[in-house]
Amino acid sequence: MCGIVGYVGEKRAAPILLDGLQKLEYRGYDSAGIAVFDGKILHIVKKKGRVKELEPARALRGNCGIGHTRWATHGAPSEKNAHPHTYRKFTLVHNGIIENAHILREECLSRGEIFSSETDSEVIAHLISDCYEGNFAAAVCEASKRLQGSFALAVLFGDCPGTIVCARRHSPLVVGREKGGLFVASDVPAIAAEGVEIFSLGDGEFAALHAGEIQFFDEDLRPVLPHPVEYSCKEDAPALGGYRHFMRKEMSEIPAVLRKNSVDFLSNSQFSAFCEVLCHAEYIQIVACGTAYHAGLCAAYAFEKICRVPCEVSIASEYRYRDPIVPQNTVCFAVSQSGETADTLAAAQIAREKGAFLAAVTNVAYSSLTRISDAVLLTNAGREVAVAATKSFNAQLMLLYGVAAFLATKKGREVPPLAELPQAAAGALEVSEEVRGWTAHFLSAKSVFFLGRGADYFTALEGSLKLKEITYLPSEGYPAGELKHGTLALIEKNTPVVAVVTQRELAEKTMNAVHEVYARGAKIFLVTRFEELRARKEVFASVLLPACPEEFSPAVAVIPLQALAYYLSLARGNDPDKPRNLAKSVTVE
Ligand code: G6P
Repeated sequence: MCGIVGYVGEKRAAPILLDGLQKLEYRGYDSAGIAVFDGKILHIVKKKGRVKELEPARALRGNCGIGHTRWATHGAPSEKNAHPHTYRKFTLVHNGIIENAHILREECLSRGEIFSSETDSEVIAHLISDCYEGNFAAAVCEASKRLQGSFALAVLFGDCPGTIVCARRHSPLVVGREKGGLFVASDVPAIAAEGVEIFSLGDGEFAALHAGEIQFFDEDLRPVLPHPVEYSCKEDAPALGGYRHFMRKEMSEIPAVLRKNSVDFLSNSQFSAFCEVLCHAEYIQIVACGTAYHAGLCAAYAFEKICRVPCEVSIASEYRYRDPIVPQNTVCFAVSQSGETADTLAAAQIAREKGAFLAAVTNVAYSSLTRISDAVLLTNAGREVAVAATKSFNAQLMLLYGVAAFLATKKGREVPPLAELPQAAAGALEVSEEVRGWTAHFLSAKSVFFLGRGADYFTALEGSLKLKEITYLPSEGYPAGELKHGTLALIEKNTPVVAVVTQRELAEKTMNAVHEVYARGAKIFLVTRFEELRARKEVFASVLLPACPEEFSPAVAVIPLQALAYYLSLARGNDPDKPRNLAKSVTVE
């Protein structure tokens, strides 16, 4: 899973490739490379590490090239495994996973072909070379037919120095055109600029970029129509604005993002078709991954609690392979910040094929998810740069809580005041600075536990995920009442335990678990909205959250946990914006 970019035109390719790759680093950043034709020779520069390592290659001359930033799937992150990969006269960059790569590789080896990397991608260059019979695009088409799995490709051919052939199946790819230049990239921001028209490549389609023209065709080389993408150049220039890291900056935007996502579904005619279907929903399903999955859990809690509609939440990678049952009149929400997560897309498609009405909850208007959905609920959180999701989680919650509030109103049920959330989030941000003082007690921990019940359990899950992602400390989010059935064995002297307590009815129940871990030596850090709990002898340190409706509390209570992960990541000397091994958008299974 990776980012790819290509350019052919009147300008120098290398600066365009490097600037494009910088914008695609959210897709992976363990190694990077570019290949540029200078008219006679193809120059290839690859480096382990981030795109900035390629800076010396900016000076390369030549007007046609391809580039890649990698998130390793097959083969360790190394210079050898970095893309582009070359076999004979074909050089390519690849995003995706070739599932039958080992079989194809054996075939190539048996013909005496030599490999220079451990990647699945290199085998594609071999296949293209083997399929070549005088037509570059036809060779790419033929080779693609033999590939199982997912791919987005940009290919150069030594005998056609001014041409890039592109292909995609299940991995996103867009192409662009400006006066005097053509582009290809994994995502719009990499090539977006004034005067650049952008087109998405349909699944299974190909494109040839040559002499100022883009030809689109299907797998049998029949011409197909382009799919223009509407985008705005303005939205994609995030800056740190005085903050050290995007993660902290993005957290500071949470109150404003919650305000932006306070949608009144009762009066907003833009959503009338979706609302009509929702009113007749007998069942709700939510599919998502990572943080978005946790947002789904929180939303399902609200749907059941305040609307009394049954709601099931699934991890998308599980849903897609379990032959899910989709009852009649199901509305399925696919929640995804990027709208590109491969598992979420596949699960969403399955839900739709099985008869669900598919509603996308996403931050990217031109994403693959929006294109396959019956309704699109945009989270309008602004671009999120830090790999660990923060404001997008709160945005997803606010929007889904708004949907729940609408449905509850329609059913004549009481609706807690959602409008309090932005103010409460602003208060939570302020008190979150206090958790900075907690980090010393977590630094030498072997593991960390987050406990909660009801909606607080989902907050605990998300707090734990944040901690793992950017501090690399083993951590678990646990239902407070379940702890005693095994996990309690892991508690040792000074094990940090963060307890989230915002639900009045469940508060003392969670405190029971707090007693149990305290009795075994744990150090308790409390995140609560109940002042009286802070003075309990078990509590080592605490923050007091502003009051907000209990059903919606994760949107507020998660903020100190995001801050804890952030400050602990700094204390451990990590880069919170770009944690090791991870990527912002995971477009492979
Ligand atoms: C990756 C990111 C996570 C994110 C998940 C789902 O794993 O590192 O932060 O929650 O993908 O991403 P999505 O774009 O679908 O919300």
